This record gives sequence, structure tokens and C-alpha cells, in this order.
Amino acid sequence: MIEVEHLTKVYNGRKAVEDISFRVEKGEILGFLGPNGAGKTTTMRILTCYMPATEGTARVAGYDVFEESLEVRKRIGYLPENPPLYHEMTVYSYLDFVARIKGTPPSKRKSHIDDVMQRTNIGDVRGRVIGRLSKGYKQRVGVAQALLNNPEVLVLDEPTIGLDPKQIFEVRSLIKHLAGDHTVILSTHILPEVSMTCNRVVIINNGKVVAMDTPEGLANQMKGAERVALLVDGPAEAVREKLLAVEGVLDVKAEGIDGSPSKVTVECRLNTDLRRTLAAAVVNQGWGLLELRGISVSLEDVFINLITKEE
Ligand SMILES: Nc1ncnc2c1ncn2[C@@H]1O[C@H](COP(=O)(O)OP(=O)(O)OP(=O)(O)O)[C@@H](O)[C@H]1O
Ligand SMILES: [Mg+2]
Repeated sequence: MIEVEHLTKVYNGRKAVEDISFRVEKGEILGFLGPNGAGKTTTMRILTCYMPATEGTARVAGYDVFEESLEVRKRIGYLPENPPLYHEMTVYSYLDFVARIKGTPPSKRKSHIDDVMQRTNIGDVRGRVIGRLSKGYKQRVGVAQALLNNPEVLVLDEPTIGLDPKQIFEVRSLIKHLAGDHTVILSTHILPEVSMTCNRVVIINNGKVVAMDTPEGLANQMKGAERVALLVDGPAEAVREKLLAVEGVLDVKAEGIDGSPSKVTVECRLNTDLRRTLAAAVVNQGWGLLELRGISVSLEDVFINLITKEE
């Protein structure tokens, strides 16, 4: 449903997005995860025809976002980072205005608006002026306008930002219910968001894709690299060298100030339990083994690891 190939966007000589490629199948929810400035909004603006790419192509429902932008716009609902709400309008008149622009037939307008207001839970503020709504309600109005005209594809730029925990829960379940009928791409820098709502995750950092997998796959990918933490009574550099030589060890970090025990973290190969071997290696050197424990890796660690590796 969405095909992005080798997309690059250059702003004043700086690459905001560089050679990004990914696909989203019909009915899927894709999470676009990355820290501030990663290039999430830039990619979404290109997908929604708000600006052209410098290089590469993007297609939505088979239409090129640049050459057939009218067809693409008809099929996309977009929640921008800062929704362009008309602050002096009431919620209802604003949604009516958007429905007209989107070409909803007059006979269906009212029922469509009632439907999206119900789905985003804003019926109680329908007559209120947008400018005086709370941030969370404004955000919901933004989601409501994206849903108008029942688009095949929804592009949601940080849909839960500024919402309270209850609203976050509601918006997430709303998005989940959209899957199947709609294809959704949402951006976030909140990790639990992707594990809770998305089928697949693209992690971007500094404009580049650094990982693409299911949330479970990402967690497993790192779980494979089991980690063991040790506290060793021995010189950090010597401990590091000794443990690096152990079969199955991928990496060792060791820090210690002269005279105090060294804090050591060992990354081991997938599905290996090296705790006994590591303990033996330390003790055989005549160093004291003060602590040893396995560390389980969360999706959070995967994310931090991926984005710091890049830098
Ligand atoms: N109009 C612009 N002109 C110049 N540089 C821009 C422009 N818009 C974005 N950038 C730069 O492009 C890079 C990517 O920005 P983008 O807004 O896509 O990031 P993001 O992932 O959406 O970040 P955030 O989580 O903060 O919303 C940043 O370095 C940003 O400074
Ligand atoms: Mg952004």
C-alpha cells in the first residue's frame, strides 16, 4: 500500500533523510520510531505530498506522491505534527469545512462527521471554539479531521503527543481498530507505543533506517545478545582482554578506578549462557569475582543501542 524507495531529502545542503526504503502492506500499522530530528516528519511530509523528495520515489496505493499527488491526497488522511486547526471555528464547523474540502457528498457529510466525532470522543465539545480547547482535545480534533472521508491510508505524526494517559489509551485503541480496513503509519519517539500498537517498526536515526522488524523481532534480536554484568576485583583493562578472548563473547565493557573493583558488562552471542565460563575465566586469573548476573534486554535497550551505535 505504501512503497518508499531510496528516499532522500536535502535541506540547504544537509541531509534530513538519506536513502530510506520501506513498504507497508495493506491493513498494517507501521511504527516510525526515532529520536528528535531523526527525519520522521520529513518522511511523512513527502508521503503526504506536502513537499517533494530530493531523490527517490514514494508510492501510495500505487500512485506516485509527486506525479499523481491528487490521487494520493484523495486516499490519505494526515495528522500533521502541528495540525492546522482554525482556532476561531467551532469543532463541528471546522470538521464540516474539512469534509467539504475532501469532497464528502453533502448528503453524507453530517453522518460522517458524527461518526468521526464519536470515534475520537469529541462529541461533547462539538459546539466549542477550537482555540479554547485543551491541548488533548485539539489533538483529537486533529485525528478526527484525518479520519474524515474514510481514507485508505492514515499518516499520523505523533498522534498521542500531549494527551493524558486515559486519552493515550483511547487513541491507541482507536488506531488499533483502524488496522485491517486502513493502512496506518504513525511516528513516535515513545517505545511502548510501538510495541502496543504496531505490527512492524522502522527505526530511523540521523535520517537513516537503522532497523526494521516486528516489535517482538527487535526485542529478540537483542535478547540473542545475552548480557552478563560482573564486578571483578582486578584491573579493568586486563579483565577486558581476558574476557574478550572467551569463546562466544562479542564485546566487553570494563570500567574501574585504580584499586576499586571493575564494573564489567559482557555481550554474548545469541542463546549462549556463558556465566559459568566467565566466572571460571575470572577466578583462574586469581581475581576476585564479587558479583555476576545475567541482564535481560528490553526494547528500550535495543533502541538506545541502535541509535547510539550510529553516533
Ligand atoms: N524546513 C526545514 N528546513 C531545514 N531543515 C529542516 C526543515 N525541517 C526539518 N529540518 C531538519 O531535518 C531534520 C529532520 O527533521 P524532522 O522534523 O523530520 O525530524 P523528526 O524525526 O520529525 O523529529 P521530532 O521528533 O523532533 O519531530 C532535522 O535535522 C531538522 O532540523
Ligand atoms: Mg517530527
